[in-house]
Amino acid sequence: MPATPCDLVLVGAAEVISAPTRSAPLCSGTLDELAVMLDTSVAVADGRVIAIGPTKEIAAHFDPTIFVDASNSVVSAGLIDPHTHLIHGGSRHTEYEAIVTGNNDATVDRLQSGVEYTIEMTQRASLETLRTRALADLDDMLSLGTTTVEAKSGYGSSPDEELRILRLLGELNHPISIERTYLGAHVAPVNTPRDTYVRSVIDTLAQARRLADWCDVFCDPAGFTVAETRKIALAAIEHGFKIRLHADQTGDIGASALAAELGAVSADHLDRISDAGIDALARAGTVGVVLPTVALHTLEAFPAAEGEMATASKHSELAERVHAMLDGGVALALSTDYNPGSSPCLSMQLVMQLAMRLFRLSYSQVWSMATANAAHALGLGDDRGTIAIGRRADLVVWDVPSHEMVIHRFGSSHTRHVVKDGRLVYSANKS
Ligand code: NIG
Ligand code: FE
Repeated sequence: MPATPCDLVLVGAAEVISAPTRSAPLCSGTLDELAVMLDTSVAVADGRVIAIGPTKEIAAHFDPTIFVDASNSVVSAGLIDPHTHLIHGGSRHTEYEAIVTGNNDATVDRLQSGVEYTIEMTQRASLETLRTRALADLDDMLSLGTTTVEAKSGYGSSPDEELRILRLLGELNHPISIERTYLGAHVAPVNTPRDTYVRSVIDTLAQARRLADWCDVFCDPAGFTVAETRKIALAAIEHGFKIRLHADQTGDIGASALAAELGAVSADHLDRISDAGIDALARAGTVGVVLPTVALHTLEAFPAAEGEMATASKHSELAERVHAMLDGGVALALSTDYNPGSSPCLSMQLVMQLAMRLFRLSYSQVWSMATANAAHALGLGDDRGTIAIGRRADLVVWDVPSHEMVIHRFGSSHTRHVVKDGRLVYSANKS
């Protein structure tokens, strides 16, 4: 029988791995069920996976335009980053030194003033500067194995600025797919009465809806109250937005319960989630997105010296909350929260490596949280985040022979090749 022509075959992987293909996000029971197929190849046509099987069989049955060498390597679904503040101007490296050395104020004030600074830097940046930077950041993300990201506005702080950022997000021409989110309610500007600002966010929804599918609110002591968030989110739902919330980051004001009440697809951060919040998310099936690089970078993960950083909690407490969520039936995903303040980090690889260590998770849990559940956190779990016949061919070849090593060996990138929508879009310059 003649071989079937196809676009591409990933040949001879030591392992092809995939989380289970479920229509619902994976909870504690299924989060560990990573399938590991040894000596396997994957055939791709028209942007989709068309066959997965023993290398000898795939070689006999398919005649690809391109062979991608996956020998001694692992093939996984592309990583999915479901929470980023991709568009921003400036950098906050200077204030960071003061934070680390203990000469700065408490978390809430620091976050508010930091966001205000970035808003100013973003407003000052030309569209071209913002675009060049975003494309360079996306290039880095792709080279690190990320194939889909969520990206928010939020450093605009006025309707026109927010729409400028959303428009820019829509114009970015890059292999990575972008899910766009309107985060008009990030931090209320100091000189505007709160009611007026909340009203302006609501009044911008109709225009924002033409540019974004998601609406997010920073529901937090440092952001917007539960009442303000409910008002914005309900109006957003009327405009056809899907909801995701920043919840329980610097304090617990009931944001997770609100996310559940609103039917939010995800609730993100959750460092200070209460037991009631856990119960609410589990019942609603809202995905919890946890952010280990934020815990590292803000030093939340480490006990501070007496008197410093009053709100800092310990590494063990963060791990305890993550396990309380898993045990309570919340489906968890991972993300970078890429932003210039709490997480100047583009690497989902580092996120996975830190998640295992800071949250005390297994290799399989971490893989599922960065692929299948991250896709579910964006409502894309039926098509992305897993490897199966008919699903989108967003695939990464990792330059290590076992999937555990991608997480165990930290500090360098393991990416060898990235395939997006069935096309080879990145190859590392390794011999
Ligand atoms: O997700 N929580 C609010 N927003 C960002 C931090 C923003 C900043 O520091 O610029 C976050 O961590
Ligand atoms: Fe965020």
